[in-house]
Amino acid sequence: MQPITKTDLKLPLIHRGKVREMYNYDNDKILMVATDRISAFDVVFNEGIPYKGAVLSTLSKFWFEKTKHILPNHVISTQIPPTLPSYLQGRAMIVKKAKPLKIEVIVRGYLTGSGFKDYQKTGSVCGIKLPPGMKNGDKLPEPIFTPSTKATEGHDINISEKEAEEIIGKEELQFVKKKCLELYKFGHDYLLPKGLILADTKFEFGELPDGSMILIDEVLTPDSSRYWSKDKYDEGKLESMDKQYLRNYLETLDWGKTYPPPTLPKEVVDNVSNLYLKVYKQITGEEFKR
Ligand SMILES: Nc1ncnc2c1ncn2[C@@H]1O[C@H](COP(=O)(O)OP(=O)(O)OP(=O)(O)O)[C@@H](O)[C@H]1O
Ligand SMILES: [Mg+2]
Repeated sequence: MQPITKTDLKLPLIHRGKVREMYNYDNDKILMVATDRISAFDVVFNEGIPYKGAVLSTLSKFWFEKTKHILPNHVISTQIPPTLPSYLQGRAMIVKKAKPLKIEVIVRGYLTGSGFKDYQKTGSVCGIKLPPGMKNGDKLPEPIFTPSTKATEGHDINISEKEAEEIIGKEELQFVKKKCLELYKFGHDYLLPKGLILADTKFEFGELPDGSMILIDEVLTPDSSRYWSKDKYDEGKLESMDKQYLRNYLETLDWGKTYPPPTLPKEVVDNVSNLYLKVYKQITGEEFKR
């Protein structure tokens, strides 16, 4: 299958994100299309990753269904009307139009990535003091909620709960914190027996016109989460089954992490594609239907 890196539908385009394209479906609905684009360090690559958009959408659908008892979500339908191009099947869904919260909601159960860098400098992550002597990949005493800004340009910056409260409101923050910790715990406990460790993940919350808060965007996917192989973890190795694989490859290049992106070799594209298909199977127990 040829990857799809851009769509041009006969619907009003609301927003072209790094991965998803949002079209106005009607007043209160959005057609959300996941393309096969991939980004890292906030740079979008020119190469598409075969099956990626469909894997992300199908996995999100899987998790939205499984987590709706914790928090309702934006999914209305994953059936695309026959009037729209057939290549959208599997990669698009019709969702409730919401007002996205102005913060990024991240939960970490393990110390790694920017959290580990923060810890090395300050002994804390987002102002949360942690025990001394922790190493990259260590499990945290308990999962922590680490909000960050949602930069429209440039990189997101970690902020304290206090700062997050000032942006979205005190009650809203307490609600979001409680829900995202529950969602993380659900995902973590679901994945462990499947041989995966959910190290951390990002959620997006949105507000409906009636004031209620729902889960939007994508959920617990290899783009928004860090998954590690449990077997390898038990041997003391961090084997990433997610977008980290691409970041690790990019770290071997002499590239400044700004536009223009380097060309991704076919081997890397194929490896990412196969990794996403593999993790799909590991999570759902079923082969991805291509
Ligand atoms: N139900 C929804 N209602 C309104 N907006 C939504 C909904 N679900 C997701 N979004 C928004 O749609 C966009 C999805 O696009 P994508 O994930 O590609 O963006 P991104 O690269 O993460 O961020 P950016 O939009 O800043 O480029 C995000 O801005 C997200 O907040
Ligand atoms: Mg996004």
